[in-house]
Parts: sequence; structure tokens; C-alpha cells
Amino acid sequence: MKKVIMLGGGGFAREVLDTIHVINAHTDDAIEPIGFVYDSGESDAGVLIHGIPVLGEISCLKNVDLNEVLLVSAVGRSVWRRKMVEEARSLGARFMSVIHPTAIISKWSKIGEGAIIQRFCGINTEVVVGDFFVANAYTGVGHDTVIGDYVHINPNVNISGGTVIGHDVFIGVKATVFPVTIGEGAVIGACALVTKDVPPNMMAKGIPARFYAMEKKEY
Ligand SMILES: CC(C)(COP(=O)(O)OP(=O)(O)OC[C@H]1O[C@@H](n2cnc3c(N)ncnc32)[C@H](O)[C@@H]1OP(=O)(O)O)[C@@H](O)C(=O)NCCC(=O)NCCS
Repeated sequence: MKKVIMLGGGGFAREVLDTIHVINAHTDDAIEPIGFVYDSGESDAGVLIHGIPVLGEISCLKNVDLNEVLLVSAVGRSVWRRKMVEEARSLGARFMSVIHPTAIISKWSKIGEGAIIQRFCGINTEVVVGDFFVANAYTGVGHDTVIGDYVHINPNVNISGGTVIGHDVFIGVKATVFPVTIGEGAVIGACALVTKDVPPNMMAKGIPARFYAMEKKEY
């Protein structure tokens, strides 16, 4: 039995919890979530989520023996995930990946630490992915794609083979991406058709996608 603490407590964390239940139905080495940890300022300590307690704000990890427990990075937006993971790591936390049994990942692809890969995702051949990646349900990533750290891909996104995606990129539901380069920190809107390189820290939305400046990155 592997004890884990879920980093995050919103809808995405509950989706990841659901995946853990599916994994547990297929293995003898079950994952046991023992609590949720929220971003600071958002603590609901003691509240139960599907019977599992919210332990408190991230600083409560100081009271946990982090040699005995792994963390699952279940935060739904790239920008918050990086912040929370870095804070947890500074306290000594170590992370595990959660990969749904229906996801298919090529044996010739590499995925970094702390990934969440949800149901029916396909990561094709020779894809290289950084740390704390999220691929939500039904996402497809084509051959030879390179993906940075803290990238978040929402459900039903299609990434063409040979795409390059920088760190901290957030891609909204049902977007389709041609083999382009998406700069670090960019946000791709839901249903966008990305046909050209996206500069860093820009928002791209629409069909075909047009680029917009972002005052502040919230995704
Ligand atoms: C693009 C996005 C990041 C936010 O963009 P924004 O500019 O802050 O959005 P706003 O709500 O201020 O809308 C501004 C304009 O853009 C339009 N717009 C918003 N999202 C759009 C999208 N995905 N594609 C095209 N137009 C969009 C709005 O209709 C609005 O148009 P208007 O000025 O003519 O009324 C967001 O709408 C989005 O697509 N998020 C992804 C959602 C998602 O996938 N979540 C994951 C769920 S699992």
C-alpha cells in the first residue's frame, strides 16, 4: 500500500482520485490517499472529500513524515501547480505519477516526474515530456513532440506530431495543434485551431487561432 497526499482539492483532484480508484482495482500494490492539501488561504481543514480529509494549507506538510508518504500533483492549472509543487518540494515532498490503465504511452516515449495521465490518452512514439505534466481524458500527442514542465492539456486536445510546447503552457479543451512551437507560458483557448507558432506568454484562441496579450496568466 502506497500512502499518498493529494496536492489540490478541486474538481481536477477529484478526477485524479477517481483514476486512483480505477488503478487500485487493477493492482495488488494499491495507492491509499490519506488527505488533500490546499493552496494557502483556501484551507477547509477537516472537511471530507469522498471520505478523505482535507489536511489544511500546504504548510501542514511540515507536520507530515514525508519519508513515509508520496504526493500526487492534482492541481488543475499550470500556474498554481508550479507554485504548489515548488512549495511542497521545498518542504521535502516527493511525487508519484498517476497514469490511468486505459492510457497508452509508447515504450519509446519519456515522461518526467509527477505526471497525471487520464483515461484514454495516447502518447505516441518518441515523445519527450518534462515534469508535472497533465494530459486529461482523450488527449492525443503525436510522434516526436517535445513538452516542457508543468504543461496542462485539457480533455479531447489533439497535438500533431513534431510539436514543441514550452514550460507552463495551458491548452483548453478540444484544441487542435498543428506541428508548431508554442512558447513558454502561453494559454491556448478551448476549441482553438493553432496553425502558427505561438509566442511565449500569449493567449491564442479561435479558428484559426489569433494571438492576444495577457496582462496576467491565470491558467
Ligand atoms: C481563452 C480563455 C483562456 C480565456 O480567454 P479570455 O480572453 O480571458 O476570455 P473572456 O471570457 O474575457 O472573453 C473574451 C472574449 O473572448 C471570447 N472567447 C473566450 N474563450 C474563447 C475561446 N476559447 N475561443 C474563442 N473565443 C473565446 C469570448 O467570447 C469573449 O468574446 P467577446 O469579447 O466578443 O464577448 C478561456 O475562455 C478558455 O478557452 N479557457 C479554457 C477552458 C478550458 O478548457 N478549461 C478546462 C476545463 S476541463
